[in-house]
Amino acid sequence: MNISCREVEKHFSLNGRTVRALDGVSCAMNSGTLVVITGRSGSGKTTLLNAIGGLDRPTGGSVLVDGEDLYARGDRALSRYRNERIGFVFQSFHLSPDETALENVLVPFLFARRPPSDARTRAHDALGRVGLAEQIDQPAGTLSAGQKQRVAIARAIVNRPDFVLADEPTGNLDERTGADIVALLRGLAEQGLGVVIVTHDSAISRVADQALRIADGRIVEGES
Ligand SMILES: Nc1ncnc2c1ncn2[C@@H]1O[C@H](COP(=O)(O)OP(=O)(O)O)[C@@H](O)[C@H]1O
Ligand SMILES: [Mg+2]
Repeated sequence: MNISCREVEKHFSLNGRTVRALDGVSCAMNSGTLVVITGRSGSGKTTLLNAIGGLDRPTGGSVLVDGEDLYARGDRALSRYRNERIGFVFQSFHLSPDETALENVLVPFLFARRPPSDARTRAHDALGRVGLAEQIDQPAGTLSAGQKQRVAIARAIVNRPDFVLADEPTGNLDERTGADIVALLRGLAEQGLGVVIVTHDSAISRVADQALRIADGRIVEGES
């Protein structure tokens, strides 16, 4: 799958002023590659990730998925894209602490039109892929921060998406655990997924197949 941004703009009105969160972003990303987009706080990283994830309609330009305009689709096609083709990973994990690792990974199937009959097997497999086979029945709240992020990654891949979009995935982790999580995401890209990491930590760019930098809503380095 290919995701391309063409002059994407996102402008917000705030107290009568216009905030140009994205100010003409063009970029292209492909399955099987790890893309790292770095930028300072407020540079537009989350806004860009939300635009390519089908979460937030740009105010200008277009997001093309395999050449087709994502936001020209109807709302149902857009939500299908989000649920079936994209997996999301967040800084703060977004897990239910009282539910087990397995139950957390099964969450995407609660929203599926037709949940697969092998959902539990898939969730087991996903937890195995992130190295948590032993913690399957452990409540998420009792896991370490790094393990929590692994559960979140298992949840992101359980539905076999084409792309994983990770917003500051190492933001709540110490350096070493963060590096492990980045290595895990890199491994997913090597297995054929598209992986996009947005982060303020420019060191992460070093392991990227494609490194971009965003400042004030514009790509200032590595534009394709
Ligand atoms: N819903 C919103 N309303 C108004 N301004 C927003 C909104 N979302 C983001 N912004 C502004 O857009 C800019 C980019 O935000 P964001 O994409 O969250 O940056 P980053 O993720 O790089 O920290 C910031 O100036 C932010 O304040
Ligand atoms: Mg952000």
